[in-house]
Amino acid sequence: MKFDYNNMLSERIGDKGISMSQLEAIAPAIKKATQAMKEKRMAWRDLPYNQAEVIKEIKEYVSQMKDQIDAFVVLGIGGSALGPLAVQQALNHPHYNELPREKRGGNPKLYVVDNIDPERLVYLLQAIDPKRCLFNVISKSGSTSETMSQFMILQSILEEKLGKELARKHIVCTTDPISGNLITIAKQEGYKTFYIPSAVGGRFSELTPVGLLPAAFCGIDIEGLLEGAAYMDALCSEDDINKNPAHMYAALHYLGMTTGKNISIMMPYVDRLKLIGDWYAQLWAESLGKKYDRKGNIVNVGQTPVRALGATDQHSQVQLYAEGPYDKIVTFIGVDEYHETITIPKSYSDMPSLGFLGGITHNDLLQTQQKATEYALTKAERMNLTITIPKVTPQTVGQLLYFFEVATAFAGELLDINAFDQPGVEEGKDATYALFGRPGYEAKKAELEAAPPKNPQFILISENHVDDRAENRRL
Ligand code: PA5
Repeated sequence: MKFDYNNMLSERIGDKGISMSQLEAIAPAIKKATQAMKEKRMAWRDLPYNQAEVIKEIKEYVSQMKDQIDAFVVLGIGGSALGPLAVQQALNHPHYNELPREKRGGNPKLYVVDNIDPERLVYLLQAIDPKRCLFNVISKSGSTSETMSQFMILQSILEEKLGKELARKHIVCTTDPISGNLITIAKQEGYKTFYIPSAVGGRFSELTPVGLLPAAFCGIDIEGLLEGAAYMDALCSEDDINKNPAHMYAALHYLGMTTGKNISIMMPYVDRLKLIGDWYAQLWAESLGKKYDRKGNIVNVGQTPVRALGATDQHSQVQLYAEGPYDKIVTFIGVDEYHETITIPKSYSDMPSLGFLGGITHNDLLQTQQKATEYALTKAERMNLTITIPKVTPQTVGQLLYFFEVATAFAGELLDINAFDQPGVEEGKDATYALFGRPGYEAKKAELEAAPPKNPQFILISENHVDDRAENRRL
């Protein structure tokens, strides 16, 4: 990986950039954060090294099940879905599911159902035969309503179609080994189960069976992913920030945040990496968006992640990046080599505005556009940095995942917040439970009922729209 942060610095973008003296001024905080990362080296950091048995079990299970199914279907959300989606897009054919099976390496199709829009499941069930599918219920907590409700629906469909005994073979769980409803159910029902180590949180779990099992079913080299992560771990264990790209990424973003750079844009110039942007968005947002620091002070920190894709979003968002508020840091991700090459024919050589394209490749065109956008943003004094990997491979994807995980944890240290909890999402969950009358949420229900109703004056509604749900007016 090449990590180029020239365009973050005042040397390149004047006083809109970060000066060496600013970096030096936070040297004590960097030292403290580096020490903390070592002292409380967290469980997810050892995932590249301690999963030999898990890999063996995954491989055995895949070879036992693969030919019995047409599709592997993930039921999960957030950290239990974004990683599998990102890795599949990065490492398999973009039209994987549409290819005939032999062109998929004999592997099943992959579907990831990460929402409960009722249409989603109904339409999926119109496209698959549940009797020829393996459903992977992924939930670290084992209690997420979205995932568990999908599980309950699919379990009942399978049992109705196949009977309880046979249905069992079509469900595999990935969850915490000790706590939560899913592990209890898995044991009761006798479902095959893979474990997410208790100390590894949802959004840091892609390199556990959460990501490894779906990837292995789709023929992805899961050992390669872990090799890449191990390589990055070595780099990101350097004390010296000048040799540690993840720590530097975090420190630059931290300094950016102190001067109002409240938006972090991830802009790969590689379609394969588009969903890495979605995965990063959850990691960065949920980990760093916090109200309190560790001392209990109200800090309201964090950066809003934005996903973009080059060159597509040059025609959509780059105008704003170049001329809008100075509140963004853009991370470009590029590759030295794409998996394919395509050359533009030398047509229209008599038309200079098209003729120049003749004979060059889309590879060159896209890489040049990346450089040109980088240049334009730098000229407009906008903070940007560039990560370049040689090619998208299991190893480099493992590197990227691990890189952003370390960067996120290190940014959490610098901000002095807990990067591993998500108290801000609990309120919404509790309100949902209360609205459904879940036992234990009576006080929350009373709180909701006592909330002042909405003022109809501020609701514009067409005559034929029927809205008689009392709670809609209240919430
Ligand atoms: O990072 C997290 O912990 C969350 O975003 C979870 O990944 C998400 O809520 C899904 O949780 P679970 O895997 O427990 O169903």
